[in-house]
Amino acid sequence: MGTLILFILFSALFALATSTNPTLSEGLSLSSENQEDVLTSPNGVFSAGFYQVGENAKCFAIWFASRPSRIQDRTVVWMANRDQPVNGRKSKLSLLRTGNLILTDAGKFTVWETNTISISSLELVLNDAGNLVLQTLGGESLWESFDFPTDTLLPQQLLTRKTHLVSSRSQTNYSSGFYKLLFDNDNVLCLLYDGAKVSGIYWPKPWVLPSQDGRFAYNSSRIAVLDSFGNFSSSDNFTFLSADYGQLLNRRLTLDYDGNLRLYSWDEEDEMWAVSWQAFQAPCIIHGVCGANGVCNYVPGIGRKCSCLPGYKMINHTDWSQGCEPELDLSYGKNDGFLPLSHLDFYGNDYNNNPDRYTLDGCMKLCLESAKCKAFQYTFDTNHGFSKCYPKIKLMNGHRSPQFKGSFYLRVPKKDLPNLLSNANLAEEIGLNCSSEAPLQLQRKYIKNRENETIKFMLWFVCGLGGLEILGIVLVWCLFLRTPKSPSADKQGYLLAITRFRKFTYSELKTATNGFTEEIGRGAGGIVYKGVLADNRVAAIKQLYEANQGEEVFLAEVNIIGRLNHMNLIEMWGYCAEGKQRLLVTEYMEHGSLANNLSSNTLDWKKRFEIALGTAKGLSYLHEECLEWVLHCDIKPENIFLDSDYQPKVADFGLSKLQSRGESNNPSFSRMRGTRGYMAPEWLFNLSITSKVDVYSYGIVVLEMVTGKEAAKGVHDIESGEQPQHKRLVSWVREKKNRAALTESWHEGIIDPRLKGEYDIRKMETLIAVALQCAKEEKDARPSMREVVEMLLAQENDH
Ligand SMILES: *[C@@H]1O[C@H](CO)[C@@H](O)[C@H](O)[C@H]1NC(C)=O
Ligand SMILES: *[C@@H]1O[C@H](CO)[C@@H](O)[C@H](O)[C@H]1NC(C)=O
Ligand SMILES: *[C@@H]1O[C@H](CO)[C@@H](O)[C@H](O)[C@H]1NC(C)=O
Ligand SMILES: *[C@@H]1O[C@H](CO)[C@@H](O)[C@H](O)[C@H]1NC(C)=O
Ligand SMILES: *[C@@H]1O[C@H](CO)[C@@H](O)[C@H](O)[C@H]1NC(C)=O
Ligand SMILES: *[C@@H]1O[C@H](CO)[C@@H](O)[C@H](O)[C@H]1NC(C)=O
Repeated sequence: MGTLILFILFSALFALATSTNPTLSEGLSLSSENQEDVLTSPNGVFSAGFYQVGENAKCFAIWFASRPSRIQDRTVVWMANRDQPVNGRKSKLSLLRTGNLILTDAGKFTVWETNTISISSLELVLNDAGNLVLQTLGGESLWESFDFPTDTLLPQQLLTRKTHLVSSRSQTNYSSGFYKLLFDNDNVLCLLYDGAKVSGIYWPKPWVLPSQDGRFAYNSSRIAVLDSFGNFSSSDNFTFLSADYGQLLNRRLTLDYDGNLRLYSWDEEDEMWAVSWQAFQAPCIIHGVCGANGVCNYVPGIGRKCSCLPGYKMINHTDWSQGCEPELDLSYGKNDGFLPLSHLDFYGNDYNNNPDRYTLDGCMKLCLESAKCKAFQYTFDTNHGFSKCYPKIKLMNGHRSPQFKGSFYLRVPKKDLPNLLSNANLAEEIGLNCSSEAPLQLQRKYIKNRENETIKFMLWFVCGLGGLEILGIVLVWCLFLRTPKSPSADKQGYLLAITRFRKFTYSELKTATNGFTEEIGRGAGGIVYKGVLADNRVAAIKQLYEANQGEEVFLAEVNIIGRLNHMNLIEMWGYCAEGKQRLLVTEYMEHGSLANNLSSNTLDWKKRFEIALGTAKGLSYLHEECLEWVLHCDIKPENIFLDSDYQPKVADFGLSKLQSRGESNNPSFSRMRGTRGYMAPEWLFNLSITSKVDVYSYGIVVLEMVTGKEAAKGVHDIESGEQPQHKRLVSWVREKKNRAALTESWHEGIIDPRLKGEYDIRKMETLIAVALQCAKEEKDARPSMREVVEMLLAQENDH
């Protein structure tokens, strides 16, 4: 009997692992690593799962499942976390027993959640319409993806007053772009360009009243929907029928990255999406295409092209949205001339409130009166029989339009006019190249967490080895782990099981450290105690001195630090923030600090080189590869720890961030951080602080490791005017080395005598050269940490 139950349990769990289920039940999750972990709609049209958006970066998405079959061509219709992709490994979408659906990045951080709570059991279902629904077993919906569209509206999906479509950045970048489809305050469905500097509605035509465009502004229900046959209708009386109206096809209405709204139908025969309606035939009307002083020209079949006005040049050759800048000296005096250009239309930015009844001369005079006027537009109003004058202070949204009857006059210095008139073609037309915005891959690197892999492997190994009974026991144990006692325990247990990064209570840490008795270090940030956690791990627990930082700020920073994961950085296991107490829990390093090891002379040459290299790798990761820039600001031998293999791990990174608040209460420490002896000159001279301060300190540390002399010992006070010890160390080494041309044996003169001559001359030369470069006074002369790593690796690979 018992065996039978275990067998059933086993089957259930196995089904879970391969995840052929069409629904996701409570307590289970979909993994970013497993290709098979997808939900598919009963009709097979839609799938939901992790979608690759960059190198090792994924988003949880819904896509058309059957078409096209090639994974890289999948048509995504919805994304949970388009602006915050997660790691391709160890990320999960989990339906918690609390009723919340959460997406965790690399198992650590919740990047997205539905914020739902339910006492009854829930399941996540992908229905035939492509709607991902979180519902009770009785079918009552708590959350659905249709209520949170991204750039696509599917048939039956309502666009409401609360929702809008946002285009993606580019063809390959799915994060939120600049174009939006929404109901504006006048109840009119419109397209909005919402750029970094300017924004404006470009559909319906902004220069006519909505009512003239057939829109009805008095229905405030603000609802629009597309039906399966291809009929789109909106409460403002805007409707359209698709070109293939009536047929039952797979359709999607997408606000494309180029700002055009298009209805697509899937063409079974050609296996491609065909456009069956679009908002713009002439897409140059879309705002923000070519940037300021640029002109968009649409060539059917080729696409949009941008060019600059005569006398202007492109600001950035890779990015048209930055527009063009004057090539000529445009000081805008009273004697300027005007260059006539036909069929050019610049929308907006005119300043004449009363443009009616102007002669061309009058309009020119009006423009010349203002130093702000850059050009004017002069149009004949056929309805009224007079001309209108629109002087422009900015030249935005320019496009060439054969239908445009007016003229455009660009203001230029008189002396340049003949030259410009003789070749008044627009400067070279450069294609607005879609692919120029393209295959940049999102780079997100993460370091694998070996331990988890091992645990997983062992579980499978045990499962494979044991008989059914053993398996049963393991499964019961698994089940036990999967059944949390309370919601909060659930979340914490979940985090703990995967990453071990968690919040500790003060009393837990008090127990772990035996009442904060065994002090193992004391630094600028706080006192470090050794402790043994409840799970028998030995930890270093640092109690921060300055605890006046708010809990939220502290948590935000700790989250950043906890995210950093590199073999040459001390791993953070957790933190505690209770009342005024702020503590950090990190791994404990057996061999202690580099400082201790240097003074007790336990490091041979090989270890010293490895430590220099490892430390550089850790810092390089901090500076360049992690998600946020973290400067260390306090590199010194006391902050570099050695593990059981004498591999270095940098500690206390990010501490400067954790204390940035408290510092302001302490004026004597208002700016300087770090430790005398390792501080870059920028600190003293109030220059801007960059990652190069860490490079400087690193250089000093390497000099110490090679020479065995201590930079901070008996420091000559900086205020005393005497040259501080570390500077003397640098100039001493530099001088010795400069005499290399004269004497052969400069190496002997500076190498740590305790090495007794056992060192590799070429490696030593490299280390000294790198260290001296790092310790340059001028910060721009110092290499980056990445360059340091490359220089050291080159030396290492030589052998
Ligand atoms: C809605 O549009 C139709 C034509 O498309 C027009 O005949 C009708 O008058 C419009 N209704 C309103 C309320 O504007
Ligand atoms: C399209 O849908 C609207 C609203 O449901 C309806 O009034 C209209 O008659 C439909 N048009 C066609 C051609 O079916
Ligand atoms: C407003 O639009 C909705 C949806 O199209 C429609 O059902 C409703 O009858 C309209 N109300 C008025 C007053 O036109
Ligand atoms: C041009 O723009 C790109 C992307 O916005 C930017 O990375 C690059 O640095 C810019 N180049 C110049 C010369 O400003
Ligand atoms: C667009 O970019 C691609 C790749 O960079 C290039 O091969 C192509 O010639 C470009 N097209 C235009 C019109 O510049
Ligand atoms: C996508 O666009 C966002 C927003 O500008 C940007 O932060 C991100 O780096 C882009 N990704 C790629 C791969 O270019």
